[in-house]
Amino acid sequence: MIKKRIGIIGGFAEKQSMYMKELLESMNVNVLLIDTVSFPESVSFSIGDKLKYQNEEIEDIKSFYVGAIYSSGPPYYLPEVKEGKPIDLDGWYSNYTSERERMAFIGSWIGMLELEGRVFVDNIFNWKLHHYKPYQLALLKKHGIPVPKTLVTNSKTELLKFRKEVKEVIYKAVAGGSFCRKMTDHDWTTERLDKLKYAPVIFQDYIDGDNIRVYVLDHKIISCNVIYTDELDYRMHSKPQHTEHISLPEDIKEMCIKAADICGHNFAAIDVKKTTNNKYVVLEATPSPMFIGIDHCTGDNISGQLAEYLIKNG
Ligand SMILES: Nc1ncnc2c1ncn2[C@@H]1O[C@H](COP(=O)(O)OP(=O)(O)OP(=O)(O)O)[C@@H](O)[C@H]1O
Ligand SMILES: [Mg+2]
Repeated sequence: MIKKRIGIIGGFAEKQSMYMKELLESMNVNVLLIDTVSFPESVSFSIGDKLKYQNEEIEDIKSFYVGAIYSSGPPYYLPEVKEGKPIDLDGWYSNYTSERERMAFIGSWIGMLELEGRVFVDNIFNWKLHHYKPYQLALLKKHGIPVPKTLVTNSKTELLKFRKEVKEVIYKAVAGGSFCRKMTDHDWTTERLDKLKYAPVIFQDYIDGDNIRVYVLDHKIISCNVIYTDELDYRMHSKPQHTEHISLPEDIKEMCIKAADICGHNFAAIDVKKTTNNKYVVLEATPSPMFIGIDHCTGDNISGQLAEYLIKNG
């Protein structure tokens, strides 16, 4: 019997993609690793009558795991910077425009496979919600999901008003990718507040309580744990310090599934805070989240459940 093929979109140096590749192969499935990192330098993709990867049709592949789509933004992602070499920024504009072309191509290529009915874990078009964080919060709120009181601004005046409306203020990046921190006395100095002229920031009411990470796959909760930490943002530690399984009330489980649905994610992690007076507040839904560390610490089998889902739809 010919083995089923499953697609993994990622790169050979991307941990989650390689982990899933090995797991699926151990489950008697062939895996095609679709390497977006080496595109367009050394791998080829085409969009014509057929969608091709490395000049081959991939019509037999019905399900795909999206580990990562590599996009290089402004110069800080340049390989030279990673290697600590001096950089020549003279070519920045052509780099920027070719990156836009590259992203428009990869997005279209994946989107067209979806149009043909292939299953993607997770749908990349909704990934933008993870970067448009204020919009995501508004979307969740509109659907009745409690989120922290939030101000997103570059205005000192608005921030100083907000300070009076909440007990304690935390801040984080509008597009994410940084740590969340409490505002300190230093942050409230004029010198620091003046930095708002360089970029807007998300400010939120600090929610005291447990950090709960809920993984949702295909409208079901597949893992749910409290992540204990002595940091405000548990990701400040390279791995969770201590985790504990938690069983959520039915309405809160439904709320998490609804949050993933509203954001259009078939695989997502919902970050929830359980307050000291037993209220639940959603911080955000993360599409195609990392799971190796959580599987390792909790003994949950997110990767196995993900593999089963890909095989079922493959
Ligand atoms: N309002 C808040 N009150 C208390 N803790 C918070 C708050 N917001 C975020 N945190 C803590 O920081 C962590 C990261 O928060 P969140 O995922 O919202 O940040 P982010 O900047 O959106 O991250 P990403 O890099 O994932 O895009 C949360 O899991 C939580 O531990
Ligand atoms: Mg997050």
